[in-house]
Amino acid sequence: MRIAISTGGGDAPGLNAVIRAAVLSALDRGWHVLGIRKGYAGLLGDDDVVPLTRDDVRGIGHLGGTILRTTNRGNPFSYPVRQPDGSFREVDRSDELIENARNLGINALIAIGGDGSLRIAHQLHEKGLRVVGVPKTIDNDVSGTITTFGFDTAVATALEAIDKLHTTAESHDRVIVMEVMGRHAGFIALHSGLAGAVHVILIPEIPYDLDKVCEAIMDRERRGRHFDIVVVAEGAHPRGGAESVLGESLPGQERRVGGIGQRLAVQIQERTGKECRSLVLGHLQRGGMPTGYDRLLATRFGGAAVEAIEQGKWGHMVALQSPHIVPVPILEALREPKRVDPNHDIVRTARRTDRKSTRLNSSHT
Ligand code: F6P
Repeated sequence: MRIAISTGGGDAPGLNAVIRAAVLSALDRGWHVLGIRKGYAGLLGDDDVVPLTRDDVRGIGHLGGTILRTTNRGNPFSYPVRQPDGSFREVDRSDELIENARNLGINALIAIGGDGSLRIAHQLHEKGLRVVGVPKTIDNDVSGTITTFGFDTAVATALEAIDKLHTTAESHDRVIVMEVMGRHAGFIALHSGLAGAVHVILIPEIPYDLDKVCEAIMDRERRGRHFDIVVVAEGAHPRGGAESVLGESLPGQERRVGGIGQRLAVQIQERTGKECRSLVLGHLQRGGMPTGYDRLLATRFGGAAVEAIEQGKWGHMVALQSPHIVPVPILEALREPKRVDPNHDIVRTARRTDRKSTRLNSSHT
């Protein structure tokens, strides 16, 4: 048996722990393991395919990043290929990928990725490649699993930043707006914001009303609380408005969201007269050592992915459905993207632990 492992999309703390566990579990069964470098690029001749041995995965479980490297521009079904005039054209190279995998004697692939990479994994499975997925993303926006690895670490990083912002914001009587990742999901903002006892949390699932945000800040001002921390998810948007996008995506890359933190800081300063600053926490959330929770979850996912291969669960991904890790069809998991449920107890608690219930959007008082 010869299996291959790839890591695709944005990196997330815990990727190396999945690789380590999958390699060790496979070697324990007497299998051979190959690592495909840089998403699927290694199978398209644009990077390497390397053997993975016990030595290669020694001492990597606690490290951020991925020893296999990754990309969010390597979709083999629409692969950006540079043309002689310097422009890019998207080409379907999936047949070539499957052929190359066959020539390398790969019997099964463990594809570790977020919704984009898992969708590709499903499409490859439909074309005959034997694939098992492992859900990864700091955004926690993949359905079918209670959580993805990487999310807990991202929340811990955001929380540490919030704790630090509290002291400087209070010293200067300032409003500090911190923008966190999550794309179209507000999990990082909601979890870190509530745990960090911030004053306003804005998430894409609950469009906000700027008047109410400013009202909440001025209400605190009247009560002698002269500083505020606002946590905003990068995909948050005002009611009736659109999310803020960044201009510079590369060929083959999804549209990038962001910039809302800076915009809000300007608007809040204009309306309240309070001094505002903004901070984009950015890729710090993707870096660093995975938390104990993420390390354990990632290790369990790696071991379970090898078990899923043994059981022939092609087209499935491993998922946490507490207390167990179970295989679920990738297609089922991708049917609906996971989003914050406005009726979830975390949202209800965020509202109820807020004096005027203005912390999360403002329309529900
Ligand atoms: O999906 C993970 C994520 O970190 C999002 O939260 C964020 O919008 C995006 O990736 C950023 O991607 P990039 O690596 O292209 O900056």
